[in-house]
Amino acid sequence: MKAMQYKAFGGSEVIEQVEVSTPSIQNENDVLIQVKAASVNPIDMKIRMGFMKQIRPVEMPFIPGGEVAGIVVATGEKVSKFKAGDEVIAIPQKNGYAQFVVANENFVVPKPQSLSFEEAASIGVNIGTAQSVLFTEGKLAKGQKVLIQGGGGAVGGAMVQMAKAAGAYVIATASGEGVALAKSLGADEVIDYKSQDVTSIVTGVDLVADTAGGEAQAGLFRVLKQGGKLLSIVVPPSQELAEQFHVEARFIASDLSFQTLKNGLDLIAAGKFKPIVSRTFKLEEAATAQDFLTAGGVNGKVILVVA
Ligand SMILES: NC(=O)c1ccc[n+]([C@@H]2O[C@H](COP(=O)([O-])OP(=O)(O)OC[C@H]3O[C@@H](n4cnc5c(N)ncnc54)[C@H](OP(=O)(O)O)[C@@H]3O)[C@@H](O)[C@H]2O)c1
Repeated sequence: MKAMQYKAFGGSEVIEQVEVSTPSIQNENDVLIQVKAASVNPIDMKIRMGFMKQIRPVEMPFIPGGEVAGIVVATGEKVSKFKAGDEVIAIPQKNGYAQFVVANENFVVPKPQSLSFEEAASIGVNIGTAQSVLFTEGKLAKGQKVLIQGGGGAVGGAMVQMAKAAGAYVIATASGEGVALAKSLGADEVIDYKSQDVTSIVTGVDLVADTAGGEAQAGLFRVLKQGGKLLSIVVPPSQELAEQFHVEARFIASDLSFQTLKNGLDLIAAGKFKPIVSRTFKLEEAATAQDFLTAGGVNGKVILVVA
């Protein structure tokens, strides 16, 4: 089968198109999927650059791609939820930039019929991460005030929609076209972080969901009320500042299993969640697609179409 892989860490030039054997079912809970679309996530570039060696070691040669949509081809003996021919979304963690991939059935969900494969490949990491941060860890409740840092991004856009659907008051930071996007996704207030200082405008926030990290994170402590939470999916927040502002602050690693995706899938079925695909590329253009996302200013998901 056709796949995109690399043999050494580095820039996007290390990615090459190869012919490799089609993977086969190895475990009784495995699902073999013909990939129709694979999403490009920021972690793909962090792994490729070698930044994740300690926490996500990989074996070379490595086929990136943690999130796909496609059609089930075969299933392991114990798989009960899926059969050949089913259209699915899967989070295989790796090997997704290819024509076929194997995933554990706990990380496979039925593809919503209303979505194209490209749209379907865009939602798993977004809704699973949003669910983990906002509800599993953040305990966001109706009427509470949430600030979503990076509300025009892939995960941030999902957070805006899911927080709004839960009845929260949603404030998002964004820039460029992300401002209008976050507003259209339901944010009550959108702050252009390039021309306005969120820390001097917003106060009394119950939960900050940080999808941007960087130096700006330290300022976000100021917008929280005492006892509030700052949860980041990018870098662990300062515990010194957490103590100083009397808030809780943690890094969250998302849970992307079947159960965590359920709320987002229900919202899609109810027409209350819109997948945002920024741009599609062919599988063979994986290096260009990664560079496009790395360049920034992208609103929504970058998707590889697999033929
Ligand atoms: N921990 C986990 O489990 C987990 C899961 C998923 C993703 N992540 C990580 O979360 C991050 C976001 O992922 P993503 O897919 O949503 O990426 P993305 O689509 O590139 O979104 C990032 C957003 O952050 C915005 N941003 C950058 N600097 C900002 C600032 N100073 N203030 C406010 N917003 C700012 C960007 O807006 P502009 O483009 O307008 O600057 C962009 O919209 C990545 O680092 C990814 O690796 C972690």
